[in-house]
Amino acid sequence: MAHLFNRNVLLGVSGGIAAYKSAELVRQLQELGANVRVIMTRGAQEFITPLTLQALSSNPVHTELLDEYAEMGMGHIELARWADLLLIAPATADLIARLSTGRADDLLSTVALATAAPLMLAPAMNQQMWKDPATTANIGTLSVRGARIIGPAAGQQACGDVGLGRMEEPSTIAGAAASLFENSQLAGKRIMITAGPTREALDPVRYISNNSSGKMGYALAAAAVDAGAITTLVSGPVALAPPDRIRFLSVQSAEQMLQQCIELLPECDIFIGCAAVADYRPAKVENQKIKKAQNEMTLQLVRNPDIVSAVAANKYRPYTVGFAAETNNVVAYARDKMQRKGLDMMVANDVSNQTIGFNSDNNAVTVLWRDGEKILELASKASIAQHIVHLIAHQTRKNN
Ligand code: C5P
Repeated sequence: MAHLFNRNVLLGVSGGIAAYKSAELVRQLQELGANVRVIMTRGAQEFITPLTLQALSSNPVHTELLDEYAEMGMGHIELARWADLLLIAPATADLIARLSTGRADDLLSTVALATAAPLMLAPAMNQQMWKDPATTANIGTLSVRGARIIGPAAGQQACGDVGLGRMEEPSTIAGAAASLFENSQLAGKRIMITAGPTREALDPVRYISNNSSGKMGYALAAAAVDAGAITTLVSGPVALAPPDRIRFLSVQSAEQMLQQCIELLPECDIFIGCAAVADYRPAKVENQKIKKAQNEMTLQLVRNPDIVSAVAANKYRPYTVGFAAETNNVVAYARDKMQRKGLDMMVANDVSNQTIGFNSDNNAVTVLWRDGEKILELASKASIAQHIVHLIAHQTRKNN
């Protein structure tokens, strides 16, 4: 079944009786793995309270465009950037009319203009309003611009009429949202992704590690699955739940990660080294907990193997992609690293920018390959991952 793992779904609720079904929709979206934030119009708040949707989504509900407190938390532009999908359910006839003319007279319509995320609408209105040529024209305009329209369904309406106009069931809407992200760009390809940090033991209780959250690698795994790839995620210790439908292998040290990757290389067409592998490990792992004795202590470290280079040099060499975190001369250093490590593609990250990278939910990168490059502007890691997968699919098709 399609899923929304790691996806940021911005749910817009406008003012119709079907707004009560939005509560169930929040739950259904979450069950498919989505992070959900909610925007409610004034009208929606006449039917259901923000508190209900706040409690269910575990996030404050956004209601006003010009609210200095809300803007200090997550302003309308940030919300627009955060979204991987803007889903409006229910979408009333009035909201549909305002969207079709590009109005920005409340928070929801403004965010709809300000976001680059796809727009999905679940209309809900009286059957006569749905049939009205004005609504038909507005829906046509939005469809031509790329909006996906789910429903409406036919049946008994709250006003007593019978006909087309009921909002689709929440499970149908959530399923349609999930399938929006599915494609077959990597259908049948076998992809292996490393993610997270490695832990290099000093003794039974201590280790050397780093702050990698694993979010980028996990987002890549989810995007690879969505693209139809048979996906293996080799992960260091992180606080994330593994995405569905993948082979998940948990490792601790760089040496374990290397061993796991090399073992599986004969079954791998594409490798992405996204892990923040520790460059060094303690020369000796003590069997017993190290006691404190002197005021100073010296650790001797030895170099860890370079996993992505070893993969690229292996006889089963897959199409190999690395990540390069740089603070200056980002693209030039990353291109040099790509050549030194013998890689096909490099994803360059500017880590001098504190708002992106390591623990953040967003990223901005430049993707390099032998005879080209592409800048991926600031977006959620899920969206960046989707673009990287798209570029890999394109390049590997070209190479075949
Ligand atoms: O050399 P640097 O650590 O900057 O290179 C980063 C890239 O190399 C990433 O793709 C990372 O996963 C990979 N790497 C590795 N093994 C190491 C160090 C880095 O696979 N020991």
